[in-house]
Amino acid sequence: MEMDSPSQCRPPHVVIFPLPLQGHINSMIKLAELLALAGFKLTFLNSHHNHERLIKFTNIVAYFKRYPGFELKTITDGLPLDHPRSGNWFLETYEEAIVMKIKQSFREMMINSNPLVDCVIADGFSGYAIDVANELGIPIIGFRTSSPRSFWVYYSITDIIKAGELPIRGSEDMDRLITTVPGMETYLRCRDLPSFCRKPDIEDSTVQLIVKQTRKSTQADALIFNTTDELDQPILSQIRTKCANIYPIGPLHAQLNTRLKAKHGESFDQFSNTLGEEDKSCIPWLDKQPNRSVIYVSFGSITSTSRDQLVELWYGLLNSKTKFLFVVRPDSVIGKDGEGEDFVKELMEKSKDRGYIVDWAPQEVVLNHQAVGGFLTHSGWNSTLESIVAGVPMVCWPYFADQQVTSRVVSTVWKIGLDMKDVSDRKIVEKMVNDVMVDQKEFVNSATDMAKVINQCVSIGGSSSNNLDRLIEDIRMKRLKTTKRL
Ligand code: UDX
Repeated sequence: MEMDSPSQCRPPHVVIFPLPLQGHINSMIKLAELLALAGFKLTFLNSHHNHERLIKFTNIVAYFKRYPGFELKTITDGLPLDHPRSGNWFLETYEEAIVMKIKQSFREMMINSNPLVDCVIADGFSGYAIDVANELGIPIIGFRTSSPRSFWVYYSITDIIKAGELPIRGSEDMDRLITTVPGMETYLRCRDLPSFCRKPDIEDSTVQLIVKQTRKSTQADALIFNTTDELDQPILSQIRTKCANIYPIGPLHAQLNTRLKAKHGESFDQFSNTLGEEDKSCIPWLDKQPNRSVIYVSFGSITSTSRDQLVELWYGLLNSKTKFLFVVRPDSVIGKDGEGEDFVKELMEKSKDRGYIVDWAPQEVVLNHQAVGGFLTHSGWNSTLESIVAGVPMVCWPYFADQQVTSRVVSTVWKIGLDMKDVSDRKIVEKMVNDVMVDQKEFVNSATDMAKVINQCVSIGGSSSNNLDRLIEDIRMKRLKTTKRL
């Protein structure tokens, strides 16, 4: 008899290993909790830096004590703890500092793990984890935390270049259609390509790194996507031609809420994973506003805006017919140290009758508040899914990378919002906010209809719920390594 078989004498041990960025940790910690709910032993491997922030701003240690065997472990992200980690630090330091240092620590942790690791679920952007897992014979699943459509565009960049559709040639028409991304030929324009495609030098190291990591992730035994068949089926079929076993199990926050509710009833408590301190004072402010009268404005955890852009957005909001709840992270305003903070205070003072400004909001709660009727967003994938589940239409103002693709899909494929990409002009902001919030009821209707469909996917018998059960069984029964490789 095989004594160490997880199915016979101990629960499977899964290590979940996100990239050290808020948007990536968010969905991966939710998956960790879902697997812990299924009775697995979980190790959540976070960077020292982010672990410290979670300890500072959340009840992470106390919360996860409820799951026997749930372990929070830390690993280096390649930088000293006091490094500011601002701007594009992650991509800039990835190759040398991160890969060299993390790979070694990760390998040692896998070797010394007790109990043995039965499966690694690593961020899909961590190709080195595939090498380590393959060397040690551990099944590995890649988790791509951004949208499958953006993944598919990244994957296709080599073909776009080969076809001569990149690089972008100066003043040429940014609205021309890109014809070399299978399944997206009818709507993907040049301007919707990930922002790094605008670099004049397409051999640039960032572009190469992203393409390389994306192609590498299809060498994992399987891929997880935070989406549903109902949202992304045509592109998931394309991705299956490169990696046969994929699990669309999202939206994960909704999936987790559904399973927690099934276990504990309506009043279940929830882990709010946040690397910043939530300002909950916006909730009593929202309580005082009429139904669907407020637009929520937030650009995620990484975006920076110039003072000029912020002023245009702010005037656009002020001149629109709605009130607004605006998240402005003080470190997100480009300028000298401290300047951003003073500027935000000034805006706050000037708009206190029409709006409310906070540094960081409890976003999921805000989007589900009845006073919120629209979301001006940077189209980060978590934010987009949170808005879809809450039935809130969007005005999309993408900042970089995957967000350029997602904003196009929101507006043209799903038709649950408008794409404001490449514009920061108060008149357009005002018009689009009015269209989505007041003048064009079809956005509210289509967002409401879509929310119903997507919430079904995570209920018992729904596609994402079934896919999650399949993932749990495949790990439990050690089926991953036997999946046919393409
Ligand atoms: C980035 C990418 O843009 C995203 O597409 C990719 O998948 C991961 O990395 P980020 O820019 O932070 O992430 O955006 P997003 O994916 O939307 O994640 C932001 C998260 O922070 C959301 O879950 C949101 O609920 C949360 N948030 C944001 C708050 O809790 N409070 C806030 O005030 C703002």
